[in-house]
Amino acid sequence: MRLKDKVAVVTGGGGGLGEGISLCLAREGAHVVVSDAKLETAEKVAARVREKGVKAIAIQTDVRFSDQCQNMIDTALREMGGLDILVCSAGVGGYAPDREPGKLLNIENITDEDWDTVIDVNLKGVFLCNRAIIPHFKKQRSGKIINIASIGARMPLDFLAHYDTSKAGVIALTQAVAMHMARYNVNVNSVCPGLIKTEMGANMGKLLSESHPVFRGMNPDDIFNTLVTNSVRKRTPQTAEDIGNAVVFLASEEGKQIVGQGLNVCGGMYFS
Ligand SMILES: NC(=O)c1ccc[n+]([C@@H]2O[C@H](COP(=O)([O-])OP(=O)(O)OC[C@H]3O[C@@H](n4cnc5c(N)ncnc54)[C@H](O)[C@@H]3O)[C@@H](O)[C@H]2O)c1
Repeated sequence: MRLKDKVAVVTGGGGGLGEGISLCLAREGAHVVVSDAKLETAEKVAARVREKGVKAIAIQTDVRFSDQCQNMIDTALREMGGLDILVCSAGVGGYAPDREPGKLLNIENITDEDWDTVIDVNLKGVFLCNRAIIPHFKKQRSGKIINIASIGARMPLDFLAHYDTSKAGVIALTQAVAMHMARYNVNVNSVCPGLIKTEMGANMGKLLSESHPVFRGMNPDDIFNTLVTNSVRKRTPQTAEDIGNAVVFLASEEGKQIVGQGLNVCGGMYFS
């Protein structure tokens, strides 16, 4: 119970990693505000969180919009009576298989709209949520922020130029916010997951099977397993719980000397 009676907000909490993170926080005794653009999925995760014996509410929030991010923080404070941890996990993958069947995106065919959507959700959304919670954390003189980046920020791929750029931005933004907030005893870090078979991860396997020169024609599951088990450690595939455990560590007292870092939790897919 490393987070007993702390209160956490998790954006993208209705998605694969957001759900895993929410459940890990709950396992450690934290009450969880499950926030997502899709209320129905957020409500399902909130119900699973409550089964762990802690409080949970669901809030509909589209992180692209400043007023919705502010409302998320205000509602969390009002309904839960406090706020100690913010986890920004909401994100989109940036694939466009419907528009460009059988064709991978790259700098030549990423449209303005593709670019804006990915940057708005993955980077501006993190900025808006971090900014919205800062007045409360400053006043409280404590707090933890964990932003979910990606190993893609470390090893960008041509067909994910916009996605990988958004995640590199999350790492840089995290460092800037960490520097600003350290004086208020607020600790800010990011986590870089490798490849996990959530809806987003599974879409990546499908896309590669349709379009990638090496993987075209392969079963998406085989591609997924190849990518993951090709990591030097030959570990079993990563799970959402692996990412949740890293978030718990950073949110706990044990993580207090880790400041402004981008923690690679990728099973050895990449070394830095
Ligand atoms: N799955 C992976 O392999 C992987 C790897 C590295 C990083 N990540 C990152 O982890 C995070 C979670 O990814 P996931 O695999 O759970 O994806 P997912 O697609 O399964 O879930 C993403 C969640 O974010 C929500 N969302 C999307 N747009 C939103 C918006 N504008 N406002 C609020 N919520 C929104 C979705 O409704 C969904 O519930 C993302 O930031 C992703 O980039 C995932």
